[in-house]
Amino acid sequence: MAKRKILITGGAGFIGSHVVRLFVNNYPDYDIYNLDFLTYAGNLENLKDIESAKNYTFIHADICNQDQLKDAFERHRFDSIIHLAAESHVDRSISDPLAFVHTNILGTVNLLNLARDHWAERKNENLFYHISTDEVYGSLEDGSVFLESTPYDPQSPYSASKASSDHFVRAYNNTYNLPVVISNCSNNYGPNQFPEKLIPLCINNIKNRQPLPIYGKGENIRDWLYVEDHARAIDTIFHNGKVGETYNVGGFNEWKNIDVVRLLCSIMDEKMGRTPGDSEHLIKFVKDRAGHDFRYAIDATKLKMELGWNPSLQFGEGLEKTVDWYLQNEDWLEHITSGSYRQYYLKQYEI
Ligand code: NAD
Ligand code: TYD
Repeated sequence: MAKRKILITGGAGFIGSHVVRLFVNNYPDYDIYNLDFLTYAGNLENLKDIESAKNYTFIHADICNQDQLKDAFERHRFDSIIHLAAESHVDRSISDPLAFVHTNILGTVNLLNLARDHWAERKNENLFYHISTDEVYGSLEDGSVFLESTPYDPQSPYSASKASSDHFVRAYNNTYNLPVVISNCSNNYGPNQFPEKLIPLCINNIKNRQPLPIYGKGENIRDWLYVEDHARAIDTIFHNGKVGETYNVGGFNEWKNIDVVRLLCSIMDEKMGRTPGDSEHLIKFVKDRAGHDFRYAIDATKLKMELGWNPSLQFGEGLEKTVDWYLQNEDWLEHITSGSYRQYYLKQYEI
């Protein structure tokens, strides 16, 4: 059998770096190509431990640039794609929606076109695996959950752009018979997450005794999954998922934002030798996010029953591992929170 050549886009980002590491380490017989434009969210420091592995190649390219993509496809002849590259932060999508249209929609369609053209004579291993989010299903107010059959109802510019890209992926399957699979995952947390998202932002601010900005009353609910569990789900779906199918991925782990932040405060008080309750004083309720989705909850039963995947960590355990990682990787945090991030932060929070 020919050697597998797998293109992973967005591999220098948070989730992508965990996926790249897992594939490079677990499949020495595969060639893994990480294509990333290294935007503010992309960081090759995330992959220092595997950068010299024999089966790993980094390609600096923009998925919005057709020539760069064409060149990469012609040079390396990928047989499959795991597509994670995206603009991923809801707050940024509110202040700059066009950037999300550009990367998440146009970038995805560029990749789809190249896969369609290069895989005209289909081989069994060809697969376009699109990584998406539960946010495409909209916002829940009651006790119901998102199933794979839940109609799309995106509410933010970010989720609208992801929903659109999901529709294109399915349309290419229907129209051109492109072999595709999609997974929609809940909120991830863990090492290497950019500190603009709730959990790493709070870890950084607790550490530095800065205010912890909670939107609205902190009653909004998210379903949290440890990033390595998501990477394992991606591995499982890539190898065993059925072409044309969608799989929901989630932690069966719903939390109100305020409770997440309180738990983080207590973990960090203990780890940093502070008096219990000390860091909770940093909590500051701020103006709510525009159009803030109230609740997300994923039903991942299909993935569990059909492909045998399960989340491995309890939330408390995963948060402790995450806090330990951030406390042990101060340089990483220091590099990432300098420069343009500081300007974004001041504009977003004015605190
Ligand atoms: P991230 O913002 O940490 O990383 C995105 C990566 O994409 C970065 O490395 C960035 O440099 C790269 N990138 C951006 N624009 C690019 C372009 N034009 N060309 C090439 N590379 C580009 O994002 P993340 O949180 O790791 O999310 C990865 C994927 O998973 C996204 O598609 C996101 O929608 C999806 N997702 C994320 C979550 C979550 O909780 N973070 C949950 C479900 C699904
Ligand atoms: P976030 O990590 O941005 O993920 P998403 O918006 O994709 O769910 O936010 C998680 C939750 O935390 C969400 O309900 C918004 C809230 N939040 C705050 O209360 N304060 C903050 O500073 C941030 C970034 C998020």
